[in-house]
Amino acid sequence: MARDHFATRLGFVLAAAGSAVGLGNIWKFPFMAGQNGGGAFLVLYLGFVLTIGLSVMLAEFTVGRAAQRNPVGAFRQLGGGVWPVAGFMGVAAGFVILSFYSVVGGWTIAYAIKALTGGLSASDPQVLGAAFGAFISEPVGVIGFHALFMVLTVWIVLGGIQGGIERAARVLMPLLAILVVILAVRAVTLPGADKGLQFFLAPDWSKVTWDTVNAALGQAFFSLSLGMGAMLTYASYLQRSADLPKTAVQVTLMDTGFAVIAGLMVLPAVFAFGFDAGAGPGLTFITLPAVFAQMPAGTVFAFLFFALLAIAALTSAVSILEPVVAYLIDERGIGRRTATLGMGAVIWLLGLPSALSLGPWKDVTIAKVLSLGPDWAEVNLVHKDILGAMDYLASNIMLPAGGVIIALFVGWAVSERAVREASAEGGGAFPLAGLWIFICRFVAPAAVLWVLINGL
Ligand code: PHE
Repeated sequence: MARDHFATRLGFVLAAAGSAVGLGNIWKFPFMAGQNGGGAFLVLYLGFVLTIGLSVMLAEFTVGRAAQRNPVGAFRQLGGGVWPVAGFMGVAAGFVILSFYSVVGGWTIAYAIKALTGGLSASDPQVLGAAFGAFISEPVGVIGFHALFMVLTVWIVLGGIQGGIERAARVLMPLLAILVVILAVRAVTLPGADKGLQFFLAPDWSKVTWDTVNAALGQAFFSLSLGMGAMLTYASYLQRSADLPKTAVQVTLMDTGFAVIAGLMVLPAVFAFGFDAGAGPGLTFITLPAVFAQMPAGTVFAFLFFALLAIAALTSAVSILEPVVAYLIDERGIGRRTATLGMGAVIWLLGLPSALSLGPWKDVTIAKVLSLGPDWAEVNLVHKDILGAMDYLASNIMLPAGGVIIALFVGWAVSERAVREASAEGGGAFPLAGLWIFICRFVAPAAVLWVLINGL
């Protein structure tokens, strides 16, 4: 069967950027920076993005385009042997990520509706902060919006590549970018914002632990959509002509730019209003309504912001579901419709515990359920609430591990083919090919394994 393809390179850049830019930038990055010491986290994150992140992204692009297949099929075709295991790991990571991603995506839809119906119109920041707690502890609503978000994701994936993904990304991403900049300007000029700026931009190395380093690495992979085959799968829908190194640089810079500006939008406001920077996954939802309250036409901004964020989240969610579906279509001969509907339902079910985890199940952890003893005191994963544990498992373990395998694959198993693929068709060779392969062979695997071993 002929494969769907992106019509243009621009279409591909927008889809890849649509995958990268999402809740990872606007929801997760600010609260991770808040929990992990601010400036030092920012510097570590940028370091990982520009070295390992960029290289792994190019690795995924080249493998995907060379193979024209889903993650499992790509490793099977180009490498054979045990390499396809990496593809299966990626598909598994997709399940884990989308299960909680869809829950948070549901929060953004709920907040867009709240903005429309006047639910965010209090002016006292403390009241607005408390409103998130009330929202999250009401399971019926949270689960309903989780369902709605999943239905929308499935609906777009059913439309196939060009119909759904390209069109949405093209118009709405630039709008979201403009809005985030406006909000950052408002946040930075609030009275008392300077403490937040200092927290976010001036690294305090005394607070850095291996957990911080691991968190920054995981955030780099999560935010760039790396390590599970999302970028690989998108590149498999690409025709031969696009310049992959250039595309990788553009997508990476766009994604990182979004994250840094989102940090400027949230953290100065956190300090200006006297919130707790370490508040965790609710931080953006607690802080931004207080910022909107300080703006003329605040409810209009609030609606636009949460609606556009929901759409950015959808374009990312689509890229998480697509590799899973592509695997079932290419390798198992299942139809797109059955595969998409079935996986959407299974992943929605898998997300239910996460949906409950900030509310009724907020004290449920693996350690408590299994009554683990003091031997487990050092293992982060088992002490987190369910949403936090899912996120940690995916971002801090599965994605970096998947990224290492892709880097090793490109560095050692198929380096010649990958370099050829990275060189522009008709144009010259890729000038930094040597450096790229060196990073894939040695730097990325060594650095990631070192962080994983120390961080876990
Ligand atoms: N990068 C996306 C975001 O920042 C999330 C994502 C992770 C997408 C992994 C695909 C794969 O929201």
